Amino acid sequence: MSEAILLVGGKGTRLRPLTTHTPKPMVRAAGVPFLAHQISRAAAAGVTRIVLATSYLAEVFEEHFGDGQREFGLKLVYVTEAEPLGTGGAIRNAAEQLTAGPNDPVLVFNGDILSGVDIAELVRQHHLSRADVTLHLTRVPDPRAFGLVPTDPDGRVLAFLEKPETPEQIVTDQINAGCYVFTRSVIDAIPTGREVSVERETFPGLLSGGGLLHGVVDSTYWLDLGTPAAFAKGSADLVRGLVDSPALPGPVGDALVLPGAQVSPRAVLSGGSAISEDVHVDDGAVIESSVLLPGARVGADAVVRNSIIGSHAQVGARTVLDGVTLGDAARIGADNELTTGARIACGTDLPDGSLRFSPGTMACTPHLGAVPQTVPVRV
Ligand code: GDD
Ligand code: MG
Repeated sequence: MSEAILLVGGKGTRLRPLTTHTPKPMVRAAGVPFLAHQISRAAAAGVTRIVLATSYLAEVFEEHFGDGQREFGLKLVYVTEAEPLGTGGAIRNAAEQLTAGPNDPVLVFNGDILSGVDIAELVRQHHLSRADVTLHLTRVPDPRAFGLVPTDPDGRVLAFLEKPETPEQIVTDQINAGCYVFTRSVIDAIPTGREVSVERETFPGLLSGGGLLHGVVDSTYWLDLGTPAAFAKGSADLVRGLVDSPALPGPVGDALVLPGAQVSPRAVLSGGSAISEDVHVDDGAVIESSVLLPGARVGADAVVRNSIIGSHAQVGARTVLDGVTLGDAARIGADNELTTGARIACGTDLPDGSLRFSPGTMACTPHLGAVPQTVPVRV
C-alpha cells in the first residue's frame, strides 16, 4: 500500500468559530494541526504518497506542510476544487494525481477522524475480500449523525444509509468510520465535473449495481472531531495517550506544554490540556481538559474546563468557562461565568463581570440584555 487521498475541503461549519480563519484539519489538537496526527499515522502504516483534496481555505495546507518529506517522510500532493465537489467529487478530482494502477488499492480518509484503526490490516482485508471498496466501520451508541452500514455475517455491506431521518432507518449501530480502501478503477468510474456524495450516491449506486462493499468492524479508539466538544476531547485523549500519534510533540501525560508557553508554577493543568506556544497562564488558574491555542492568555484564578481558547484570545481573572469555544482574539473580561457550551465569535469583547450563566441560572448586566443560550457566532 502506498497511496492515499485525504479529504480536507469541508467548511467545518459545526466547529465555528474555530474554523473562521483556519480549515478544520489545521486547527491544533494536542499542539499540532490535527491533520499532522492523521498524516503521521498513515506514514507509520506504510503510506508513501498522499493527495490532499482541498477546497475551503485551500492555500493554508501547502503553506504549512510543503511536500511533506521533512516532517513525515512521505510525499504530499495538493489538489484544489474551485467549488466544493462533495466527498465523491473530491475523491474523483484527486484521482488525477494518483499513480496507482486500475487494480491497486487507494486509501481514502475523512480529514476529521481520530482513530486507532490498523490501516495495514484494512488493506489486507481488502485484498482478501477482493471488494470494490472496503470500509472501516465502528459502533456508536447513537448512530443518527453518521452513515449506517449494516453487513451480513461475512462483512458484506447490505445497505448504506447516510444520516437516517426516521426511526425505521436505524437498523444497526455500525457506522461508516470515514476510512476506505478503494480499488482504483472504482474511483475512476465516479462522474467528473459535478458534485457527488460518496455516501449518498457512490456507495448506494455500487450496491444497487451488484458491487461488493466489504465492511471491517474495528473497535479501537474512534472519534469524529467535527464539534467543539469532540475536538477538545480528541486533543485531550491524544495528550493522555488514549490514542497513539507519532506527531504528538511531547511525552504522553496529564498536560502538554509547548516551548515558549509561560505557565505560572501556581497554575494547575490537568485532564490532557494542550498549551500552545506563546500562551500565558497566570497564578492560580485551573486548566482542565482544554486546548489553548497560540498566544492565548488566561488570567489569575480563572477556571477553564473542556474548552477551546482561540489564538490570542483572553480569559480574564477569576472567570469560569466550561464547555466554551472562544474564537480568535476574543476577550472575556474578569469575573464572568459561562458554563453552557457557548461559542463566542472571533474578536468579541465581553466586559468584566457581565455574564454569570450556568445551567438553570442566568444573570447579566442591563447593557447586555438577555443572553441567548449560545452567544451567536459571527462569521
Ligand atoms: N475536498 C472536499 N470537498 N472535501 C470535503 C467536501 C468537499 O466538497 N465535503 C466534505 N469534505 C471532507 C471534510 O473536510 C471531511 O474531512 C470529510 O470530507 C467528511 O465530511 P464531514 O462534513 O466531516 O462529514 P460528516 O462527519 O457529517 O459525515 C461523514 O463522516 C462520518 C464519520 O465521521 C460521512 O462520511 C459519514 O458517513 C460518516 O459516518
Ligand atoms: Mg466529520
